Amino acid sequence: MIHKTSPEVGGMGHSIKRKEDLRFIQGKGNYVDDVQLPGMVYGQMVRSPYAHARIKSVNTEKARTLPGVLAVITGADLAKANLAWMPTLSYDKQMVLATGKVLFQSQEVAFVVAEDRYTAADAAELVEVEYEELPVLVDPNKALDPGAPLLREDREQKDNHIFHWEVGDRQGTDQVFQKAAVKAKVHAFFPRCHPAPLETCGCVADFNRATGKLTIYMTSQAPHAHRTVFALVGGIPEQNIRVISPDIGGGFGNKVPVYPGYVCAIVASLTLGLPVKWIESRSENLQSTGFARDYHMTAEIASDRDGKMQALRVKTLADHGAFNAAAQPTKFPAGLFSICTGSYELPAAFCEVDGVYTNKAPGGIAYRCSFRVTEAAYLIERVVDVLAQELQMDPAELRRKNFIPAASFPYKSPLGWTYDSGNYEAAMKLALDKIGYAELRKEQLEKRKTGELMGIGISSFTEIVGAGPAHTFDILGIKMFDSCEIRIHPTGKAIARMGTKSQGQGHETTYAQIVAQELGIPASDVTVEEGDTDTAPYGLGTYASRSTPTSGAATAIAARKIRDKAKKIAAYLLECSENDLEWEPGKFYVKGVPSKAKTIQEIAFAAYTNIPPGLEAGLEAVDYYDPPNLTFPFGTYVCVVDIDKGTGEVKVRRFVAVDDCGNIINPMIVEGQIHGGLTEGMAIAFMQQIDYDESGNVQGGSFMDYLLPTAVETPHWETGKTCTPSPHHPLGAKGVGESPNVGSPAAFVNAVVDALSHLGVRHIDMPITPWKVWNVLKEKGVTG
Ligand code: CDP
Repeated sequence: MIHKTSPEVGGMGHSIKRKEDLRFIQGKGNYVDDVQLPGMVYGQMVRSPYAHARIKSVNTEKARTLPGVLAVITGADLAKANLAWMPTLSYDKQMVLATGKVLFQSQEVAFVVAEDRYTAADAAELVEVEYEELPVLVDPNKALDPGAPLLREDREQKDNHIFHWEVGDRQGTDQVFQKAAVKAKVHAFFPRCHPAPLETCGCVADFNRATGKLTIYMTSQAPHAHRTVFALVGGIPEQNIRVISPDIGGGFGNKVPVYPGYVCAIVASLTLGLPVKWIESRSENLQSTGFARDYHMTAEIASDRDGKMQALRVKTLADHGAFNAAAQPTKFPAGLFSICTGSYELPAAFCEVDGVYTNKAPGGIAYRCSFRVTEAAYLIERVVDVLAQELQMDPAELRRKNFIPAASFPYKSPLGWTYDSGNYEAAMKLALDKIGYAELRKEQLEKRKTGELMGIGISSFTEIVGAGPAHTFDILGIKMFDSCEIRIHPTGKAIARMGTKSQGQGHETTYAQIVAQELGIPASDVTVEEGDTDTAPYGLGTYASRSTPTSGAATAIAARKIRDKAKKIAAYLLECSENDLEWEPGKFYVKGVPSKAKTIQEIAFAAYTNIPPGLEAGLEAVDYYDPPNLTFPFGTYVCVVDIDKGTGEVKVRRFVAVDDCGNIINPMIVEGQIHGGLTEGMAIAFMQQIDYDESGNVQGGSFMDYLLPTAVETPHWETGKTCTPSPHHPLGAKGVGESPNVGSPAAFVNAVVDALSHLGVRHIDMPITPWKVWNVLKEKGVTG
């Protein structure tokens, strides 16, 4: 049962203001680049101008002799220490600094360390690298051609194929397709895009020769896992490594991988015995760190003539760039892409994915996404609309007809997931009512008569977030549980530490609310700390909306352990049996005698001053929570667009987002998460793509070409919610952070295609720029 707490206590459901904002709005945040240490020096990367080239020589002489330069590290230097290559999160390996050849433009070739940033930048220009250009592979569709250039000469396997992965019943699905009355097919490319967090990646590595301790301040979404990787790869005893993630200005998956810059700064600090700071520029971030998506997907869906879906078949080519550095749990080379059956009862399904290398930056990170769920949600929501077109059926009606019924949960999908809970029809109904769907359809009919272009797009997505459970999920073998440790001080105030790490999601507030909910200690009396491996309990970090499902649950359980002990102390203080006690947030009282009570603050004081005989002093607990299942948030988004026939410009007139993330901890923070994610989803749909020319030159490597939405482009978001608690999460909560980014691209694209569907348009790939739309209109003879 979720007790109601007072606004002063601020447990679940209260929109209390974000504690962390007090320092952020005063400009008092503490980001990696704010870290200043005595004697600190600066690192600068030398990067490759070519996408594929053999390195004939690297001459560091001129750079080394520039006054102020302390060291120039090359791939050859790292090779001597067996550090020229490092493992990726997907059991591939990646060059730290290039040896032999470079495989993508902006690849790291040398690392210059100098007394100040300007000298480091000047010296980097003086490093002379002689390259011999090699044929470049940009198009993943050509990666497996017999004549394709071999990119990874280091591998035993002499082609550009990384993996083939399949799930589902191939034969059974094919059989359904053979007999199906209606089939619809779409080829949808989810373009390579980039999280582009406000703060780029960086670190300060500080090796203390006197103590042997290496402290690394870094932009890390997973500080504990990174420490373990540094210990295993670098051979440094783990207790001598301390990773501190200070405030992080947005992560979105970009700060999950280990980048060469971190390794080089560590090596430089170990060598020089000085703190070394390395901070990426914006272009370095866009050109060389974890990209997202880049999935070339084909989906086919079969149904009967009434629109009852029968089977889904999906084939995907995944462009992983030069190294397979995708951040995926070990068993899932294509992440959780097999959630692609979405919100629909599909009796048969088959899905296969092939990953290939190309001459592009590595990545495949889960940008505000639970390991490829964004690609999956986009694909199914697109192909459902194409089926609606094929059947000439209203897309809302088609969805309603095929939703997994609310009574069917827990629902086992044909691709192996057990959805915990859902009520898809309720979410869609609310969204359609809010936007006035029936009226909009009438308006669209009228507009078509006068040649005006207006479209309505629906996306009824299902998410899959909260990895673990540990029996199925690990990264590099480390199981995906997460943790919380709570200590109650004698005066009844508390500190709670977690294995996750906020990058702007408001954890300092929401975790405090969970403690407040469970113990009745006001959220304002609870300090939340994350990101310091010397103090926080071990955990796998924050990405893939896993914090609430894992550490959020651990916080509730740790608090309940404390409550159990508090009950013993209360019974002692009230001279009664534990069985005679009732709990309400903040106090234990004797059943039927509410005035005979002990508050949690009084109990905390007694835990240090008046300890019951036979009981340990203190009031604290830790919990390592291994979730029994993932959580499956969902929602329906509806978008209305108007298209300018003359320019091809798409204007989002209205956007209604109804989300269901189970029980909510802080409604205001959830609302903020939705607004942010929708804005990112809109940018992906209309504005952003990291593209490459045929020589492998990255297009979109600066904010001149890779467009970020501002308030000017961002429409007004209208939100709503339904609440279907998770049956297995201790608070009934599901994750929410990424839902809007996962669910919205299909709503935008469906709206644009809907506006043009009467012209015979079935699909337009993102980003849907005015130029692209104008060309479609021209082709259809709508514009001159
Ligand atoms: O892992 P990450 O923090 O990115 O995602 P999340 O677990 O979805 O949480 C994002 C923010 O929303 C956190 O501050 C959560 O505590 C909050 N949240 C909430 O208040 N209620 C929920 N049911 C889910 C998340």
